[in-house]
Amino acid sequence: MNILVLGSGGREHAISWALAKSPRCDELYVAPGNGGTAGFARNVPDLAAYDGPAVLAFAQAHDIGLVVIGPEAPLVAGVADVLRGAGIPVFGPDAQGAQLEGSKTFCKEFMMRNDLPTAAYLSTSDEAAAHAYIDEQGAPIVVKADGLAAGKGVVVAATAEEAHAAVSECFAGAFGKAGSTVVIEECLTGPECSMLAFVSAGRAYCMAPSQDHKRAYDGDEGPNTGGMGAYSPVPIVTADELAQMEDVMASAAAATAREFDHDYRGVLYGGFMLTPAGPKLLEYNARFGDPETQVVLPRLESDLVDVMLAVAEGRPDDIALAWADKWAVTVVLASEGYPRAYEKGKVITGIDAADALDDVKVYHAGTAARDDGALVTAGGRVLNVTAMGATFEEARDLAYRACDIIHFDGKQNRTDIGARALRGRDAWA
Ligand code: AMP
Ligand code: GLY
Repeated sequence: MNILVLGSGGREHAISWALAKSPRCDELYVAPGNGGTAGFARNVPDLAAYDGPAVLAFAQAHDIGLVVIGPEAPLVAGVADVLRGAGIPVFGPDAQGAQLEGSKTFCKEFMMRNDLPTAAYLSTSDEAAAHAYIDEQGAPIVVKADGLAAGKGVVVAATAEEAHAAVSECFAGAFGKAGSTVVIEECLTGPECSMLAFVSAGRAYCMAPSQDHKRAYDGDEGPNTGGMGAYSPVPIVTADELAQMEDVMASAAAATAREFDHDYRGVLYGGFMLTPAGPKLLEYNARFGDPETQVVLPRLESDLVDVMLAVAEGRPDDIALAWADKWAVTVVLASEGYPRAYEKGKVITGIDAADALDDVKVYHAGTAARDDGALVTAGGRVLNVTAMGATFEEARDLAYRACDIIHFDGKQNRTDIGARALRGRDAWA
């Protein structure tokens, strides 16, 4: 079967790599793809992933039997609807399902209606009401732009002043239309945990839990990023918390079948905080996490084509997930300056040597091949270096050993991925 993956990050490299391992995968296309996917799949740089009719035309012309949509923008734009309407199996929800990620208000209302545990909140498009709610609730408090803001629309405000400023910024247009409605939320505490589930026909098949590192610098300091590293599974999660999160995901999947016009078919990503009162949802995303995918999929022993087709065709009984009994850790190598301004075009060396180590896989996030064939940096997050090991420490040490082999000017990475988890639950106290 020919398969088309939409997207260009480390997540899409990891998805494509797992699909390519399947004997069922014939021609694999990635649009637009990156310097890593170019090595084993066909990149389609000129196909715009968010342009439904263009994606459909490509799929029909290339006899595509499965389309996998990586990022949120094409999902929210309704690319899945266009493809499904033409009878092409798609992994990824339609526009309505993707609203769980596209609108925080839509998502909170879904959670409240279905008794899913989450922070108390107010959603409003009235700036005065937003300021009044902050005065009433006090700090700390969390201010979120309603719409997609590339991960930048959330302020965890330690003081009321900060919260007021965040609200003013939203209504002044800092996030465009995404900020014309704000969600103001109770500030929760505890470790975060990402729970991704394959969802189809109202059923949820949870993947192993994982944990991202959102802040740019060691010790969870500095600005928020798309994610600087991750590991899976998560040693500090108790069996009880795991069961509660799985329950929440199952309830949510059942609710998608009851409430939505069309079956939700794709990944539902629950972003949880493990609070003293139990796991609570910070958000839902309608796709795989990045970089969580780079530690979850390498541990999946089942054939990903089988799994994704079963999801896409609404056959949940055919979904079977088997996991390697190993730990996985990924470290993001970023460009100097990221998540703020950074330069591109730095020559990268050492990837092949790192990749050649047993149990190491280097996923490309922001790379490109220069005309002379050299591989250069082409984004903020450049590479994700994933290692697996029999123990958490083994995986972490191996990941860092592989990182040391790779060089480019301005290479920047956190040196403490997983360190807190190794110290145990008290590290979050
Ligand atoms: P989100 O884009 O909703 O995932 O939010 C980005 C980050 O903000 C999360 O990963 C959390 O670290 C933090 N955050 C979001 N909501 C809350 C909340 N209610 N309480 C505390 N921290 C939060
Ligand atoms: N790693 C966070 C996300 O994918 O949203």
